[in-house]
Amino acid sequence: MENQQFAVRINGQSISCRAGQTILEVCREANIPVPTLCYDKRLNPYGACRLCVVEVDGYTEPLASCTTFVQPGMVVTTESEKLSRHRKTTIELLLHNHPNDCMTCEASGACELQTMAYQYGARLGQFQTKKWGLPLVEDNPFITFEPNKCVVCARCVRICHEVVMADTLKLEQNGWRTLPVTTDGKPRSLDNCEFCGQCVSACPTGALTDRKSRGKGRAMDVKKVKTTCSYCGTGCNFFLNVKDGKVVRVTSDFDAPVNHGNLCVKGRYGFDFIHSPERIKTPLIKENGKFREASWDEALDLVASKFNALIKEHGPEKVGGFSSSRCTNEENYLLSKWVRCAVGSNNVDNCARV
Ligand code: FES
Repeated sequence: MENQQFAVRINGQSISCRAGQTILEVCREANIPVPTLCYDKRLNPYGACRLCVVEVDGYTEPLASCTTFVQPGMVVTTESEKLSRHRKTTIELLLHNHPNDCMTCEASGACELQTMAYQYGARLGQFQTKKWGLPLVEDNPFITFEPNKCVVCARCVRICHEVVMADTLKLEQNGWRTLPVTTDGKPRSLDNCEFCGQCVSACPTGALTDRKSRGKGRAMDVKKVKTTCSYCGTGCNFFLNVKDGKVVRVTSDFDAPVNHGNLCVKGRYGFDFIHSPERIKTPLIKENGKFREASWDEALDLVASKFNALIKEHGPEKVGGFSSSRCTNEENYLLSKWVRCAVGSNNVDNCARV
């Protein structure tokens, strides 16, 4: 049944889809833009923000495309005057108690609410209410929570439950006062939080941000460099956010085939070593019990001469190479090639084998 294929009509176009897909998933596959706020492709559909609404023939009111499954012959419209009005009003309702301090907001340029407010021409002050004025929560070294910027999409709570399975967060209170809080009511600590920052990666606004990156450069100030995490052999991808030659933040690569944007605490927050003044940047040669700096040529010549002497005296089979799962496939391949071809031994192993 899951694999049953049929066609639906979206914006007049016939599109092939599978049973069990939502309208939003089919639109995304077909590159048809539909705005979303509570949707995160890593999570189960939630249907909270109502921005993804579309018109479906046979229904008088728009339906949330993220929670509505396609049916054979369904006729869907994703853009219309009525839908634009609906989305604009929804955004204006969200903005009515939002701080709207985009000039200084850490998430400016990467805020989904900001992008959609611009796209739909939402105006401030369409609904009168008091601003929250809740204080910033900085009770831990990694994650800052600005409750006034929360749009209650629950992506933080859901990713912590569905993906991390840590259940650090829950939603508390009702209606417009609803906010994510820690499940045990205590400040975040190693007792109740993994500090993986998955909640930050899921947050569509500036409500949850990386504390140690605050003030160091926003989305429009940084160059994003895609790389592979070197902490273990899983091979997670992410983006190093670089400003003035310095890494100021790590952000998710949601299209990464290995980790789909998910990271652990080391991958997301363990980048201080890159600019550590204690980092060894040149080869060191030990002489008379003390290290001295050396050029790469001198160091490589010394290592080569030592290996040659060893091979000459004991034979190549006495030499082996152990590589690390922290290295890339290419680096591991090079080590294997060097041991087999340059040394002449088949003694090659890797820590990931056990
Ligand atoms: Fe569908 Fe939020 S994305 S309701």
